[in-house]
Amino acid sequence: MNTKVNFAGIEMKNPVTVCSGTFGYGREFSQFFDLGKLGAVITKGTSLKPKSGNKPPRICETASGMLNSIGLQNPGVEYFAQNDLPFLRKFDTKIIVNACGSSVDEYVELCKILNSLDIDGVELNLSCPNVKEGCMAFGNTYEGVKNVTSAVRKVLEKPLIVKLTPNVTSIAEIAKGVEDGGADAVSLINTLLGMKIDVNTRKPVLANNTGGLSGPAIKPIAVRMVYQVSKAVKIPIMGMGGIMNGEDAIEFMLAGAKTISIGAGNFVDPYTSIKTIEEIEEYMKKYNIENIVDIVGKVEMN
Ligand SMILES: Cc1cc2nc3c(=O)[nH]c(=O)nc-3n(C[C@H](O)[C@H](O)[C@H](O)COP(=O)(O)O)c2cc1C
Repeated sequence: MNTKVNFAGIEMKNPVTVCSGTFGYGREFSQFFDLGKLGAVITKGTSLKPKSGNKPPRICETASGMLNSIGLQNPGVEYFAQNDLPFLRKFDTKIIVNACGSSVDEYVELCKILNSLDIDGVELNLSCPNVKEGCMAFGNTYEGVKNVTSAVRKVLEKPLIVKLTPNVTSIAEIAKGVEDGGADAVSLINTLLGMKIDVNTRKPVLANNTGGLSGPAIKPIAVRMVYQVSKAVKIPIMGMGGIMNGEDAIEFMLAGAKTISIGAGNFVDPYTSIKTIEEIEEYMKKYNIENIVDIVGKVEMN
C-alpha cells in the first residue's frame, strides 16, 4: 500500500497536511504526536514584518463551524526563520510556509527571503477575508491573481502553491489565473466571509464585525469548488474546508484534490490529522487501492 504523493514537486509520505493558522508553527501539537507522521506542515500566515492582528474577540462558534478574524497575527519572517523553522526541521516532514502580504512588492520581497530558508514550498495566501488592505484585493479577479502569481514566480525558487478565496463568483476562472501565472499548484478553500450577531447587545460578536467561516459547515461548498477547479486547470490541487476524518479526506480526493489539509478539525481534536491518515489507509485496504493517487478525481458523476 502506497500513500506517497508528489505534490508540486514536494515528496510527501502521505497526502495529509494541516491548514495555515490552525496549527501555529507546530509546537503545541508536537506535545500530542510526532509531526513527522504528517505529509507536510503548513505554517501560520507569515509576513515580511510582524503583525499584531485584529482586536479580540477574534473567534466564535457557529452551527457546525466557527468564525475567525485573527487578521494574520504573526511574528514576521525573521523571527520564524530563527525560532520556529529550526524547531520544525527536527521532524521528518515537509515544511510549507504560508506567505501573506499587502502589496505585490511585499510578496516579492518576502519570497526572496523565503528562497534562502530551508523550507520545501510556499503557499501564497491571496485569500484572507480579515485584513482591510491586502490579499483579498488580489485574490478575487483573474488579472489580480495572475499578476501577483507571475511576479512571485519570477523570483521564487521553491514550489509555489497559491491559495484561493471562495468569496468569488467563478472559482474556476480565478484558478486559471493561478495556472496562467505559473504556479505549481493551487489550494482551496480559505474561509467564507460571515457574521454573527448577539441579539441581546445587538452587536456583532466579533470585534471586527465580520470573520471567516470554517469547519464542517463549509465542506460541501469546498468539495464543489475543488471539483470545478479540477475541471478548469491541470496543476494539482490541495483541498481543504471542513475535513474532520478520513471519509471527508477521500471525498475531496475523489473530487480532484491530490492532497488535503485539516483546519478547524485540529481545534476539535488535536489528533484529527493523525486519525485521518489512519482512516485513509483503512479505506485503501477496504477497497484494495494500491496507490492513493489512483483515486484522485475518480468521482463518477450522475
Ligand atoms: C483561526 C484560523 C486562522 C487562520 N489563519 C490563516 C492564515 O494565516 N492563512 C491562511 O491562508 N488561511 C488561514 N486560515 C484558513 C484555513 O487555513 C483554512 O483554509 C480554512 O479554515 C478552511 O479549512 P477548515 O474548514 O478545515 O478550517 C485560518 C483559519 C482559522 C480557523
